[in-house]
Amino acid sequence: MDLSKRAQRMEPSATLAVVGKAKQLKREGKPVISFGAGEPDFNPPPAAIRYAKEAIDAGHTHYTQATGIPELKEAVTDYYKKRFNLSFSADQVIVGAGAKPLIYSALSCLVDPGDEVIVFSPAWVSYVEQIRLCGGEAAVVNTIPSGCMPDPEKVRQIVTHKTRGMLINSPNNPTGAVYDSETLQALVKIAEENDLWIIYDEIYERLVYGKATHENPLALVPDASERIILVNGVSKAYAMTGWRIGYAIAPKWLSTKIGAFQGHLTSNPCSIAQWAALGALREAENDVVKMRGVFEERRKTMIDLLEKMPHITFGKPDGAFYVFVNVEKTFGMNAEGKTVETDLDFCSALLSTEYVAAVPGTAFLAPGNIRLSYSNSLEEIQEGMKRLHHFLESLS
Ligand SMILES: Cc1ncc(COP(=O)(O)O)c(C=O)c1O
Repeated sequence: MDLSKRAQRMEPSATLAVVGKAKQLKREGKPVISFGAGEPDFNPPPAAIRYAKEAIDAGHTHYTQATGIPELKEAVTDYYKKRFNLSFSADQVIVGAGAKPLIYSALSCLVDPGDEVIVFSPAWVSYVEQIRLCGGEAAVVNTIPSGCMPDPEKVRQIVTHKTRGMLINSPNNPTGAVYDSETLQALVKIAEENDLWIIYDEIYERLVYGKATHENPLALVPDASERIILVNGVSKAYAMTGWRIGYAIAPKWLSTKIGAFQGHLTSNPCSIAQWAALGALREAENDVVKMRGVFEERRKTMIDLLEKMPHITFGKPDGAFYVFVNVEKTFGMNAEGKTVETDLDFCSALLSTEYVAAVPGTAFLAPGNIRLSYSNSLEEIQEGMKRLHHFLESLS
């Protein structure tokens, strides 16, 4: 018996693999510090928990509308009005079990076998796999030479008659880059010239630091409303990863189809979690502001410590909670008798010698780098950076 070709082509999530190995070592009693997390280490807002409890007591425990409860869809449109001055009708909103399945549902409605979708590397692990699951291929534009910002000229060069759309992620996982308005406008222009759609994944939009500001392409180019799909959710902004609630906003010609697709796949996202997300959107603004402030301090601590270390380089991240560090200068060096030749070797040696977990850049189509998440306490960041520093100094 054979697995389908689709399943055979699929790679498991490398981030989950590293986090899994670190967890296993922790269970064995090792003093592991993991910088592998892709989620905030905060509790969900009290309002979310209260709404969830009330939802259970009120019996909101049955199937809901496939695209989400009207109250939450309305809260999403209110949020976008307040945050970006963008007006949407509730039937453009699809609430799903996280941003991840919503991106997949949208791709499923947009990608045919043989189609190409432009992806900017370093890129979040699931984009390429999801495009492939739809029978398409990712056309990858490397942003590293242009400071982790897409170079519009390179995008123009990669467009072919097979190109159908672009997947844009800002603030970016794993680089923390926040795309500026000029870049986004240029990308929208290319989409307009070539009749492409854009999926804009802005799941980290609340986590932006210093002078950087998060830009929304639809707020920049309102005329492009028929080709832009926004994806967002409560996972990162409200530290609600396990509740699995995301939302997409699409033009009506598409939102109905994404809703139908999701209906066949999951029926609806968890009813209780939807009410919890409503609590977050309605009442947790202060929690978001507080969490962002804590992340900003951690970011500074990590960057300050990384700047003192040998053999590495990195661009200062403006958003999300990651620092993407180039470790190529360590290649050819020796870690406890083994030669480091790749980012995977680097992460493996770092974990086994110092019990520090990081995610190899290969998982983000960017070999030669590692991703460090600063979703840890300041004490853990300080201790983990001390160990990383020691590891780098011990290389011979
Ligand atoms: C860029 C990006 N998009 C989407 C997601 C998925 O978010 P959700 O938990 O809402 O599925 C993640 C999670 O790590 C992410 O990093």
